[in-house]
Amino acid sequence: MSMAPPPRTLEGKRAVVTGATGGLGPSVARALLDAGASVVVVGRSEAVLYSLVASLGDGARLASCAADVTTPAGAARAVEGGVDVLVCVAGTWAGGHVAEDAPDDELDRMLDANLRSAWFASRAALRQMKRAARGGRIVFVASMGGLSASPRSAAYGAAKAGVVSLTRSLAEEARAIGVTVNAVAPGTIATATNRGAMPHADASRWVAPEEVAAAIIFLASDAAAALTGAVVPVSRGG
Ligand SMILES: NC(=O)c1ccc[n+]([C@@H]2O[C@H](COP(=O)([O-])OP(=O)(O)OC[C@H]3O[C@@H](n4cnc5c(N)ncnc54)[C@H](OP(=O)(O)O)[C@@H]3O)[C@@H](O)[C@H]2O)c1
Repeated sequence: MSMAPPPRTLEGKRAVVTGATGGLGPSVARALLDAGASVVVVGRSEAVLYSLVASLGDGARLASCAADVTTPAGAARAVEGGVDVLVCVAGTWAGGHVAEDAPDDELDRMLDANLRSAWFASRAALRQMKRAARGGRIVFVASMGGLSASPRSAAYGAAKAGVVSLTRSLAEEARAIGVTVNAVAPGTIATATNRGAMPHADASRWVAPEEVAAAIIFLASDAAAALTGAVVPVSRGG
């Protein structure tokens, strides 16, 4: 039995994906391409982006941009060709210790990767979207750790709680220009890094990168036009 191709709900849209090179990003880029969007994958390393583009292999509709979206200039470069859909995947985790044992720089590292990246990328996108005046979609990747307690990764949880707050504030601000702002809050994602780091964990509650990507595609689609300021758990409950 052959599977029906996914509906091309994002045909004609230009999507920009930050943090595209990690465990989740390639699945998000794949799903956007499958939905018919043109996709710009953003990361800090040209070499890593080169192999990502080669593995995705959708020539005409796929481009890459080497930029650090934790800076205003890098964020502006990431969206300079225009943006209808911004997906802020950039972010990373640190933890494994109680707060008093965390390295002194852990909070700054978590805020940079998770919150500054979302802040500067979304501001740059909103400026573009306002100028283009054809609405738009912003989807952040928060975390269940930003919605509930995040023991042994408190700095990460605090940074993701900042992303949750940003989602709600920007949703209010962007309503006037027809832009929706939502977030997904994944539980543990079944990435290669997580499998390697937790070989004995019960992975039955983990979510596949493709499942997170599917929620993002919905939030980016016309079908979600009335949905803004939402933080959608993608965690099989709990
Ligand atoms: N993995 C999970 O279980 C899980 C669960 C809940 C939420 N999340 C969230 O989902 C998103 C993707 O997760 P993932 O597992 O794919 O993460 P990841 O592989 O650790 O990192 C994703 C990408 O973020 C970029 N990045 C990391 N630190 C950065 C920094 N300081 N400045 C700018 N960019 C930075 C990197 O891209 P470049 O190096 O190419 O710039 C990296 O490839 C993250 O926001 C993460 O917090 C993950």
